[in-house]
Amino acid sequence: MDHLLADRQIEWRDRAREVARRVVLPNAWKYDRLQEYPWEIKQALAEAGLMKVWIPKEYGGAGGGVLELCVVVEELSRCCGGTGVLFAVNALGSFPILVAGTDEQKQKYLPAIASGEKLIAFGLSEKNAGSDAGGITCSAERDGDHYVLNGTKKWNTNGPVADLNTIFAITDPSSRSRRLSAFLLEKDMDGYEVGYIEDKMGIRCVPVGELDLKDCRAHESHLLGGKPGLGFKHAMMTLDRARPGVAAQAVGLAQGAVDFATLYATQRKQFGEPISSFQMVQKMLADMATKVAAARSLVYSAAKAVDAGARDMTKYAAMCKYYATDVAMEVTTDAVQVFGGNGYMRNYPIEKYMRDAKITQIYEGTNQIQRMVVARNLIKEATRLSHLEEFIPVPEHLR
Ligand code: CAA
Repeated sequence: MDHLLADRQIEWRDRAREVARRVVLPNAWKYDRLQEYPWEIKQALAEAGLMKVWIPKEYGGAGGGVLELCVVVEELSRCCGGTGVLFAVNALGSFPILVAGTDEQKQKYLPAIASGEKLIAFGLSEKNAGSDAGGITCSAERDGDHYVLNGTKKWNTNGPVADLNTIFAITDPSSRSRRLSAFLLEKDMDGYEVGYIEDKMGIRCVPVGELDLKDCRAHESHLLGGKPGLGFKHAMMTLDRARPGVAAQAVGLAQGAVDFATLYATQRKQFGEPISSFQMVQKMLADMATKVAAARSLVYSAAKAVDAGARDMTKYAAMCKYYATDVAMEVTTDAVQVFGGNGYMRNYPIEKYMRDAKITQIYEGTNQIQRMVVARNLIKEATRLSHLEEFIPVPEHLR
């Protein structure tokens, strides 16, 4: 679907495709089995300059936007969903700095993220605060020119290997709307400890763990943007920019599953014919490819809306996230079906796609939350529909 992209995005896609085929694809199943961070893959991504794609040029980046980020994530995920998030989570962790960081914070952190020297994670969720992001309990109490953080973060993707972590904590328990603030923490700070590391269904090459903060002292220069109380807004603004990346991961996974299923259908013979000659298999392949194409169009257009700063970017980011990730789940499940009995087996490539796809419907806001965000925005926009009012008859008993 090159017609949806400009030359510079096609260049990024091709660069990502080359690394994905050369380094990611041959190693994807090995790291899935080992459940180990693939340092050699991360090194190859950094050497190809991919870690800098979404970072502005003045901070050592390539000056791309969310669309460029998405085309890279898609290509990596087409070969390995875990690698897709291993890469994209650095954008999630660093978007708060881009959105709200002081110039000093941008100068301090972004160049090392762009070069791939430092990895970053995003710590919002806690064991009792997943969808209800405002319900976190991690606290940051002021002590002179420092903040003292206490609490445990959960499902911290990349956290166990990350050098930096954007952490959300309560700075004003008495406030409803100015309760939270974000902090840029570094792994060698006292009181910063990686806790329990999860054993996962999919995306197994990227570690997801707990982060224990025990009297972790952060100088006020680590407070994002230098002002307390804006943490919830900054988290939401970050997710608006990051959710298209999850959607792109889903498109890549779904495309990879279509690729494998199509090839397999031409090779696998039953009743003396390749199964691709059977109309029921053809229908499956056609539906899978069509859904992926529709999802990709929505992801690219949502990414463009975010890059343009469109007023309704929140709605489009949520739409593409739930649509593309639901497509990925359907398509990867159908791809396993095309592979039949072999599809269920670990020595065939396809079941990994289905396992990797599942988390995309859950993280960065469950698809139930995304639908709620879309509906809330539609309802807000309903005031623009007053020109239709006269065409809706008012029932007799209400006149
Ligand atoms: N941009 C800017 N501000 C926003 C905003 C946005 N997109 N969305 C909401 N806000 C503002 C509101 O305007 C409001 O501001 P005021 O108080 O000044 O009026 C404030 O934030 C509160 O908004 P809501 O009343 O809408 O908040 P809510 O409590 O009802 O929650 C929610 C809304 C959409 C459910 C939100 O909590 C949410 O997105 N939940 C899901 C969280 C999530 O995605 N977590 C995943 C974390 S990352 C992860 O998955 C781990 C990983 O490592 C990959």
